This record gives sequence, C-alpha cells and structure tokens, in this order.
Amino acid sequence: MRIFREKDYDAMSRRAAVIIAGEITHNPACVLGLATGSTPEGAYKYLVDWHRQKLVSFRNVRSVNLDEYVGLAPDHDQSYRYFMQSNLFDHVDIIPEHTQVPDGLTQDPKAFCDEYDAYIRSLGYVDMQLLGIGRNGHIGFNEPGDCFVKETHVVDLAESTIDANARFFASRDDVPKQAISMGMGAIMGAKKVLLCASGEEKAEAIYNSVCGPITPKCPGSILQLHKNVVLVADEAALCKLIAAGVIA
Ligand code: GLP
Repeated sequence: MRIFREKDYDAMSRRAAVIIAGEITHNPACVLGLATGSTPEGAYKYLVDWHRQKLVSFRNVRSVNLDEYVGLAPDHDQSYRYFMQSNLFDHVDIIPEHTQVPDGLTQDPKAFCDEYDAYIRSLGYVDMQLLGIGRNGHIGFNEPGDCFVKETHVVDLAESTIDANARFFASRDDVPKQAISMGMGAIMGAKKVLLCASGEEKAEAIYNSVCGPITPKCPGSILQLHKNVVLVADEAALCKLIAAGVIA
C-alpha cells in the first residue's frame, strides 16, 4: 500500500484529484468506481475546475457508483445520484448514459443487484475505485459483520452509520435504514483502489484497515489483500498510524 500523508482536507482532495486525473489521462476510456460523502467532495471540485480549464475530459469515461439509499428517488437531495449529478456529472462532459448509480427505487432488489454486478463484469471491472471510509470501517455501505459479502446487495445500515449520516437529513428518522451497496467482489476486482480519509474521527478506521487483523468486523481491512491500493489521507486521519510509527 502506498500512503500519501497530506497536511489537511484540501491537500488530500488535491492529491486524490491528481491521481484520478492521471488515470483518465493515461486511459481516457477508463472505468471509474465513484464514491459519495464529504470525503470526495473536494476532489470532485478540483476535477470540475480542471475540466473547465480543459485539462481533463470525461468524454470517454464510464462510471459506476458504490452505493445508494433504498427508497430515495434520484432527484431527492440526499440521494447519491443527486450528489453525483450536483458534485460532478452536471459539470463535466461525461455521457449521462455512461454513469451508473444503484437504483434506490428498484422494485426487485435481487435482480437489480445481479444486473449491477453483471454490468461491472461486462466493463471488465473498474480501473480505479475511489473509496471513503466510515467511522466503523465500512467501505461503500459494506457494514461490519460476520462475513465479507461478495455481491452487490441490500444492506441494513448500522446504527452508528445512521447517526453519522443524520447530519445530512432534517432528522435522524429521515435517514433511510437500508442501502444498496456494491460488494467486496467488485471493490476487490478493481485494478487500483484509491482510499481517501480526512479527520481524526477516521483515524481508528484507517489504523484498523491498514494494520489491524483482516476481518469483516472492519470491512476496510480487506484492502490489505488488494495488490494496488493508494491511501491518501490528512494527518488527522493518519494520526494513529503516525503515533504507532507505521508511517513517518
Ligand atoms: C457513507 C458512504 C461511504 C462513505 C462513508 C464516509 O455513508 N456510504 O461511501 O465513504 O459513509 O462518509 P464521509 O466521507 O461523509 O465521511
């Protein structure tokens, strides 16, 4: 695992955006696995900015997103489809049909999840998978549990995740209780993984993912088995690794 130690959120965002833009430059028809949440917002701003300056084009890029809340329509302002449109897709030249976000309103979740995985396989898997991480170590919405789930699936969100995400909703009761998440098969099938983290509240999850036991109790720990992971994080998120002497 290569680790970039960045000063703060902005430096983390810029570094992540440089890596993503580099992937697109080397492989203009790449498949990007995209993430939502506050962590990648800054990187998307840089990419939009560089697109406006004609430094990067998404014309031939395809994207698949990690997850979506069950029950939220694409135009709900807390849906992940809405997040992707407003933070990235509406501001770059990606072809709308080339973007995929799980359908939170699907009437047949099992069939939908199977099709999502089949689509990812048909693309030859993802070239670069961007990941944030939950405070409890979740990646996508793969919550801590007794086993790693390989396929795209419907997840019951952990109470701690509902608490963490309540800040985006009018009240905690408005946070959906379930989500559709890409499984570990698609994440681990990505050729490269770009894991990003910012803030001290992520320090434990990052420490456990990088040097804890590989266990579904900390879903991010599975990344220790992936051969090409880059971690871009600020010093606050890295503080436990720094204190333990794992990185300088
Ligand atoms: C969310 C998303 C994840 C994200 C994580 C951290 O609930 N499902 O994809 O990485 O939790 O979110 P944030 O970046 O806002 O801290």
